[in-house]
Amino acid sequence: MWGGRYAEGPSAIMREINASIGFDRKMWQQDIRGSLAHAGMLAHVGIISADDEAAIRQGMETIAKEIAEGRFPFDETLEDIHLNIEARLTERIGEAGKRLHTGRSRNDQVATDFRLWVRDALDGLAAQIEDCLRAFVSVAAEHTGTLMPGFTHLQPAQPTTLGHHMLAYTEMLSRDLGRFRDARTRMNECPLGAAALCGTGFPIDRHMTAASLGFDGPTRNSLDSVASRDFALEFLSACAICATHLSRFAEEIVIWTSPAFGFIRLGDGLTTGSSIMPQKRNPDAAELVRGKTGRINGALIGLLTVMKGLALTYAKDMQEDKEGVFDAAQSLSLCLAATAAMVRDMKPDLARMAAAAGAGFSTATDLADWLVRELKMPFRDAHHVTGRIVAKAEQMGVDISGLTLVEMQEIEPRITTSVFGVLSPAASAASRTSFGGTAPSNVARMVKEWQEKLA
Ligand code: ARG
Repeated sequence: MWGGRYAEGPSAIMREINASIGFDRKMWQQDIRGSLAHAGMLAHVGIISADDEAAIRQGMETIAKEIAEGRFPFDETLEDIHLNIEARLTERIGEAGKRLHTGRSRNDQVATDFRLWVRDALDGLAAQIEDCLRAFVSVAAEHTGTLMPGFTHLQPAQPTTLGHHMLAYTEMLSRDLGRFRDARTRMNECPLGAAALCGTGFPIDRHMTAASLGFDGPTRNSLDSVASRDFALEFLSACAICATHLSRFAEEIVIWTSPAFGFIRLGDGLTTGSSIMPQKRNPDAAELVRGKTGRINGALIGLLTVMKGLALTYAKDMQEDKEGVFDAAQSLSLCLAATAAMVRDMKPDLARMAAAAGAGFSTATDLADWLVRELKMPFRDAHHVTGRIVAKAEQMGVDISGLTLVEMQEIEPRITTSVFGVLSPAASAASRTSFGGTAPSNVARMVKEWQEKLA
């Protein structure tokens, strides 16, 4: 492609380090879409003839078939997907193929293809997030009142419900969806026509190519168009945040399925056995969601690091932008699918969860609140009195509600029997009616809101 200036071809190592065809062939559909939009525009403004455009269109059709059917002769000496397709086009249709690259460079071409690819991936992931949201909401709907312990520091904190817990992930994932949508809006400008870096003297119509590729308009600065990859960074950061949410849920699945907790059980289809320990039922899918999050987060840091020292505009470093993005998109897609499957599959053990909800003096806050409400005690004093009651219960090996009224009165004589009304986990959960709180009535209302939103 640059033989005019060169007497010798590249060395073997030059070819090897330079070639991206091994991975950027993933963008073949986007490359063809971009080329057809460009050719259509070139013909429209009279830079190439209608016959040339027709020949290009026809040539691209056969090339698309070849690639789809695995018959395309990918050639590593042709570096990347752009040169592979262009060379094949010229092989098939001659002169017209050679005119396609008028007013275009691989710099704006790759920036366009990559945006199209990321946009497609983003749309697919957004649909998967919606599916995951539906899964979480349906479990929440079934379990608005199913008691479980709420933890801080993984220590029993206050009773909550499985429904409320599921809706916590629903909130997180819906913000993830928002991040993807925001990223899409910002990335939806077309770099095609920025050419190498400064634009072109040909009377191209960038608004036309942008529109025909489904962009909101052309990018507004040619240097920025070929130099920038923040659309990919934003995509990766949305991927990383979303994966991090899934990873936290995966960690909870690992904890909850451990017999020491025994909160939920996953079916045979989503666990694996051991080749030596016959009793095993390992939550590998959850562990892999947690593990793949490391790769996805790595892809974000990888590309940030590639970009951070590059003077404008294009530099070959930027060819390193793709593999991390491809890998992150595929990994996140797997993680979302596995998460939705686990959510739909998990069988909660209601009795164990309810028992755990009341363990560890989880209603101590309710006792302190009762002292504030009924005895008008300042909260700090109530906290101290409750602490002493908990210490006494612990000493005697009982729950707070296992103490007698007299035993409590030894610490605070004004306590009355009505205190027992607030000490059960169910009463505790039901009392938390503040907006966004755990109360089943609140969770039921939120479930309804989500169901309407997701319908
Ligand atoms: N394969 C290259 C990439 O992925 C395409 C752009 C090449 N541009 C250049 N000036 N060498 O970035």
